[in-house]
Amino acid sequence: MKLISLVLAALALGQAVLCANSELDGIYNLVARQLPQFADKFEFALVPPTTASSNDSYTISSKAGKDTVIISGTTVNSLARGFYHYVKQCGQVSISWTASTINTLGSLPRLCGGGQHGSIDGAAIVPWRYYFNTVTFGYTTAFYSWADWEHLLDWAAMHGINLPLAWVGYEQVLIDIFEEFGFSQAQIVNFLSGPAFLPWNRFGNIQGSWNGSLPLEWPRQQMQLQQKIVKRMVELGMTPVLPSFTGFVPNAITDLYPNATVIKSSTWSGFPVTYTNVTFLEPLDPLFTKLQVAVIQRQRTYYGNVTHYYTLDQYNENSPFSGDVGYLKNVSLGTIESLRAADPDAVWVMQGWLFFSDSSFWTDERIRAYLSGPEIGQLLILDLFSEGSPQWQRTNSYYGHDWIWCELHDFGGNQGLEGNLPTLTKGFTSAMTNSSSLVGVGLTMEGQEGNQMVYDILLDQAWSSSSLNIKLYTEEYVQARYGPKIVSADVIECWHDLVNLVYMNNASSVVNVVPKSIYELAPNINGLLNITGHHPTKAFYDFSSLVDIWKKLHPHVHYDVVDFTRQVLANQFLDLYVDFMHFYNTTNPSASTSSEIIDRAEPLLEVLRTADRVLYTDVNFLLGSWIARARALADGNDTIADYYEFEARNQITLWGPTGQINNYASKQWAGLVGSYYLPQWEMFVETLAFQRNVSAFDVATFQHTMLLPLDIQWQWESGARLKTKHGA
Ligand SMILES: *[C@@H]1O[C@H](CO)[C@@H](O)[C@H](O)[C@H]1NC(C)=O
Ligand SMILES: *[C@@H]1O[C@H](CO)[C@@H](O)[C@H](O)[C@H]1NC(C)=O
Ligand SMILES: *[C@@H]1O[C@H](CO)[C@@H](O)[C@H](O)[C@H]1NC(C)=O
Ligand SMILES: *[C@@H]1O[C@H](CO)[C@@H](O)[C@H](O)[C@H]1NC(C)=O
Ligand SMILES: *[C@@H]1O[C@H](CO)[C@@H](O)[C@H](O)[C@H]1NC(C)=O
Ligand SMILES: *[C@@H]1O[C@H](CO)[C@@H](O)[C@H](O)[C@H]1NC(C)=O
Ligand SMILES: *[C@@H]1O[C@H](CO)[C@@H](O)[C@H](O)[C@H]1NC(C)=O
Ligand SMILES: *[C@@H]1O[C@H](CO)[C@@H](O)[C@H](O)[C@H]1NC(C)=O
Ligand SMILES: *[C@@H]1O[C@H](CO)[C@@H](O)[C@H](O)[C@H]1NC(C)=O
Ligand SMILES: *[C@@H]1O[C@H](CO)[C@@H](O)[C@H](O)[C@H]1NC(C)=O
Ligand SMILES: *[C@@H]1O[C@H](CO)[C@@H](O)[C@H](O)[C@H]1NC(C)=O
Ligand SMILES: *[C@@H]1O[C@H](CO)[C@@H](O)[C@H](O)[C@H]1NC(C)=O
Repeated sequence: MKLISLVLAALALGQAVLCANSELDGIYNLVARQLPQFADKFEFALVPPTTASSNDSYTISSKAGKDTVIISGTTVNSLARGFYHYVKQCGQVSISWTASTINTLGSLPRLCGGGQHGSIDGAAIVPWRYYFNTVTFGYTTAFYSWADWEHLLDWAAMHGINLPLAWVGYEQVLIDIFEEFGFSQAQIVNFLSGPAFLPWNRFGNIQGSWNGSLPLEWPRQQMQLQQKIVKRMVELGMTPVLPSFTGFVPNAITDLYPNATVIKSSTWSGFPVTYTNVTFLEPLDPLFTKLQVAVIQRQRTYYGNVTHYYTLDQYNENSPFSGDVGYLKNVSLGTIESLRAADPDAVWVMQGWLFFSDSSFWTDERIRAYLSGPEIGQLLILDLFSEGSPQWQRTNSYYGHDWIWCELHDFGGNQGLEGNLPTLTKGFTSAMTNSSSLVGVGLTMEGQEGNQMVYDILLDQAWSSSSLNIKLYTEEYVQARYGPKIVSADVIECWHDLVNLVYMNNASSVVNVVPKSIYELAPNINGLLNITGHHPTKAFYDFSSLVDIWKKLHPHVHYDVVDFTRQVLANQFLDLYVDFMHFYNTTNPSASTSSEIIDRAEPLLEVLRTADRVLYTDVNFLLGSWIARARALADGNDTIADYYEFEARNQITLWGPTGQINNYASKQWAGLVGSYYLPQWEMFVETLAFQRNVSAFDVATFQHTMLLPLDIQWQWESGARLKTKHGA
């Protein structure tokens, strides 16, 4: 009663002002993009927060006797969230990364599930809903166009995200400032990595670009893209988290500034030393602050004075120069002071990955020291893998610093069906009751590919103080995913089975992230099965149950048809591999002819051919889509396009000049399965058939002298050549 009259009063008083207020342009434009046919049926208003909560809230109501939906909220972001609540709950449509149904809405839905007065209220239980991992800018959005970003940002706003990371175009700022500080263009370009690998350059893991160098067109074009991205984020009520100066600099700093205190960061993941061993300017050096101020000021001229939040990671998979607690405190103190010199209200946003990935270095004592530089309120830590390896308990909630409960879920955009919904709902809400400095939830997936339900549910949990009911959530999710009222009880039943099978992963002590298929790994006679850890291949559910569900499920979304079929085939490949190896290992293969052995392996190879054909039917599963995006950014310059294509191919396969992080970001994509994995497995089968002796198979010889040359050659096959070769 009180709230609604407050809203109506605010509306009556403020309407003229509010309508003229450009603050609302962002939300009206969002509706015009997403629901153009009903764009004039919505009225939005900003209202002050109620005393009960300072977190975002919204109210949805309708005008008596009129065909108009009124959404009032405390921030533009809560209006977007309120709008989505309405279309999803009442209209049963959704927006998705890959399979939106919102444009199928035929008529303006009636308000549903409202309270006493027919209005619907929503309130966030945390101030922040965070989005992106630094590496998502490599694994997912490296080659995004503005149209791709527009869709993603609408998705984010409607899901209530208000704190997105925004790395695009960072290199233009760096180039400007490094030039200003006397570095030559060649010195700078030698430092920068290629477009698919910039996140790890930004982390100081790698430097330079193998097999080409970053053309200066790239940073210029990306900076212009970022201007649009940041502007849109702000219009949609989000606070962008912008980059800052990290300390990683071109090697030439030792010539230009011989007195600067620099150290060499670790050599990373087996890269040749020229591509790693990055020079780090110590935050204790006065030059660090000068560069910090220059970078942030330049950034402000490009993107406006739009945020106080800055991402800055110094030790992501990089050990500090010293473990001395006094040193560690000095480093973080110097860092926050540099940020504060550039922006007196700066908040340092840190990915908490280091404390997990290098936990032998990061003892509790060292973490405490490193975190003691900044004062409470000056640091915001992303507990990056809260659902799998949370660090907030052992660090006593980061010793009182603000932190965010984040879902990592996948490495390198791997695609297996997997999730642990109870951990996402109960884990987060129970962390809230245990930690007073928990200020948000976030999605920090390395790449976003599938399994969208496990991301949606966490973002929805941010607006519900009690843990969401998974069964009910599933029904609503499927309804909205497949569009208005066309979902039969059978389909819902199937989804319950699917959720129980793959999204209630109760084997999370051994598999706690998205699995990958063994066919995405280098073929071998052992070592592929039962892998646990970050790219698990271990089956954590019964494959035949998935086949049963797959047979019954008739999804209304083509993406899902392909995605589930993809998984069924990947599972079948694993079973067939076990069969084939059993045959080869336990019978005496020399008693068979080579062609008999090849025949035995034929079903295995046939699965790959089938998978390739199935994946070709959906644009979201095409190697060609990834490559076409990359080439498109070259603006018609073939030399540059070939380099971007190399980057795109290399990241998802060899990940490095010669397979330094081989198959990390592998994908089950049409074109990739057929032109990359299939020839590898054919070569494997032929090798075994030729040898007819399991003891004769030498992994090192096979992988280095046979596979690697094939794989390296593939890096340079342009799309056009591929097409001719495979007739696809
Ligand atoms: C708002 O968020 C804070 C977390 O920062 C939480 O403690 C508080 O309970 C929330 N308020 C409501 C009403 O949910
Ligand atoms: C690519 O880079 C590797 C490692 O630096 C080098 O050995 C190879 O010759 C390069 N290939 C091409 C085609 O540039
Ligand atoms: C480096 O330090 C030395 C000794 O303190 C000083 O003489 C010299 O001018 C400094 N050089 C630069 C480039 O700042
Ligand atoms: C890293 O580079 C420095 C010189 O810049 C060199 O002295 C050092 O040996 C290099 N590290 C390794 C592991 O090669
Ligand atoms: C940026 O905006 C803040 C308000 O959020 C203001 O206090 C500050 O002075 C502005 N900084 C600059 C450089 O304009
Ligand atoms: C930390 O900084 C202080 C003040 O500059 C200095 O006295 C101290 O020696 C430094 N400690 C370490 C371990 O570097
Ligand atoms: C919260 O604290 C209670 C009591 O100490 C403990 O039993 C529970 O496991 C904690 N929950 C989490 C998620 O840490
Ligand atoms: C996981 O769930 C399945 C199906 O409900 C059950 O058969 C299995 O025993 C459970 N495993 C564990 C480790 O709890
Ligand atoms: C096949 O036999 C080899 C050699 O004995 C062994 O290393 C490997 O693990 C076996 N592979 C499978 C899948 O059983
Ligand atoms: C993998 O695990 C399955 C059962 O979980 C077991 O039967 C099989 O022997 C294991 N295979 C290897 C190669 O460890
Ligand atoms: C394409 O880009 C390369 C590298 O930047 C440049 O050298 C070349 O002149 C460009 N070609 C054309 C046709 O513009
Ligand atoms: C199988 O290969 C091993 C290792 O090369 C060799 O020692 C052995 O003699 C071979 N067995 C047969 C039957 O050829």
